Amino acid sequence: MKKLTIVALITAGALSLMAADGKALAAKCLGCHGADFGKKALGASKVVKGWSADKIAKALEGYKAGTYGRAMKGVMKGQVATYSDADIKAVSEYIAGIK
Ligand code: HEC
Repeated sequence: MKKLTIVALITAGALSLMAADGKALAAKCLGCHGADFGKKALGASKVVKGWSADKIAKALEGYKAGTYGRAMKGVMKGQVATYSDADIKAVSEYIAGIK
């Protein structure tokens, strides 16, 4: 019984970590932004590669809130609408770490 409890706790811990797994959260972005965020998404975005985590998070928060962006900001609002603050932080740190 004890062993089972420990396994259950570890599994629960792994799942909650995944909830803000930056790499997993970034997976759906790559089609437009490129595998290393080095592309201009749909020919319209800036190249995000090289941005700091802070700058990326500010942009994503802004898209979510409707306070940042240009002609195609609606595309990005849909991308991050369901991302929590923790998700935005995790995905921004992951992207900023891509070399
Ligand atoms: C369907 C294509 C598409 C997908 C998928 C997508 N983006 Fe974007 N992204 C765009 C476009 C287009 C823009 C420029 C929008 C505008 O006009 O402001 C943009 C802009 C951005 C910007 C700001 C750069 C700038 O131009 O000011 C960041 C940061 C960003 N995206 C991150 C992400 C992240 C993180 C994800 C995944 C959660 C993602 N994008 C998914 C198309 C996409």
